[in-house]
Amino acid sequence: MANTVVNSWNEWDPLKHVIVGRADDCHIPPEEPALDAKVPEDSDMRGQWGRRPQDTIDRANELLDTFAKQLTDRGIRVDRPTPIDHALPATTPDFHTDSQFGCMPPRDVLLTVGSEMLEATMSYRCRWFEYLNYRPLMQQYFNEDPNFRHESAPKPRLTDADYHPDYLSDKIGVEKRLEWAAKKFFVTTEEEPLFDAADVLRFGRDLVVQHGFTTNMKGIEWLRRHFPGHRVHDVNFPGDPYPIHIDATFTPLRPGLILNNPQRRLPEDQRAMFNDNDWEIVDAAQPAHNTPPPLCYSSTWLSMNVLVLDPKTVCVEKSEVYQAEQMDKLGMEVVEVELRDAYAFGGGLHCCTADVYREGTCEDYFP
Ligand code: ARG
Repeated sequence: MANTVVNSWNEWDPLKHVIVGRADDCHIPPEEPALDAKVPEDSDMRGQWGRRPQDTIDRANELLDTFAKQLTDRGIRVDRPTPIDHALPATTPDFHTDSQFGCMPPRDVLLTVGSEMLEATMSYRCRWFEYLNYRPLMQQYFNEDPNFRHESAPKPRLTDADYHPDYLSDKIGVEKRLEWAAKKFFVTTEEEPLFDAADVLRFGRDLVVQHGFTTNMKGIEWLRRHFPGHRVHDVNFPGDPYPIHIDATFTPLRPGLILNNPQRRLPEDQRAMFNDNDWEIVDAAQPAHNTPPPLCYSSTWLSMNVLVLDPKTVCVEKSEVYQAEQMDKLGMEVVEVELRDAYAFGGGLHCCTADVYREGTCEDYFP
């Protein structure tokens, strides 16, 4: 397989090449429908936006650089995005946003399936142009690898028709949100296909996709038609009042073993493929923290947002002692990585990376 640069079929095969995000110039974007629906009502982020404080950017970059070095020291090739100017407003014929988001986390934007890297539609206006941060790398892989397929999903229009106005109130309350989540009534409508790459988990021939705020059923249908060689399964987690991105909810560690957030259990009627093939779904350990760090979009469950290096080795955030302990019991070697001060930039160890190359081929784990 000379010259193969891009190849990754699942979340656990031995990792050889990865993209690690950067915190440079990251912004808290201005209000917009899908983003507002995600920010908890009691969050310190409500009502404020603009460039993130420089000291937090510097600290996050220090941690991301150290993480990149840890990976390089293990023989993994690490590439970094080239930040565009995130302070720039963006206007299309259909919408305007006063700033962009950043080049963290790459997992949200880039979906690698085999020799293909697919730029997601995205569902926030402030993230519409985020793929540009990764274009220099895409060009490089295109030049290096004759089999690399660089794909981009149809850019969505993101007019108001994409969002349910019911979600625009800042006084919905968690009860109501849980009721809506159980009914699969999310902020995004079915106007056009929408998905973020981080709603997709790769299990060889099978793709498991979370239906929630950032990915709608049409987005999942688009993925189904785009990957005709795959089986695409939609899942939802009714326990999550802010369902975006599957990787703090459902975390495969190796063939046959998945961690599931105990507050967001996969409903029984969606477990057949796992049960029928003897896969074990275990509750993840409790997070070590009671609250997320300041100005953070995510919940404390970034504790389970781990990066698997191979089926026996996993990167766990350094302060997440309960998660590390559980990994140890599950027979995984734990690589500690300090990242908590970068959580505010969009996520944990899985989020802040995007696969380029893992050894292995496309296998059928659910025959
Ligand atoms: N929605 C998740 C939580 O707050 C965070 C997921 C972050 N993942 C990502 N790829 N950005 O629990």
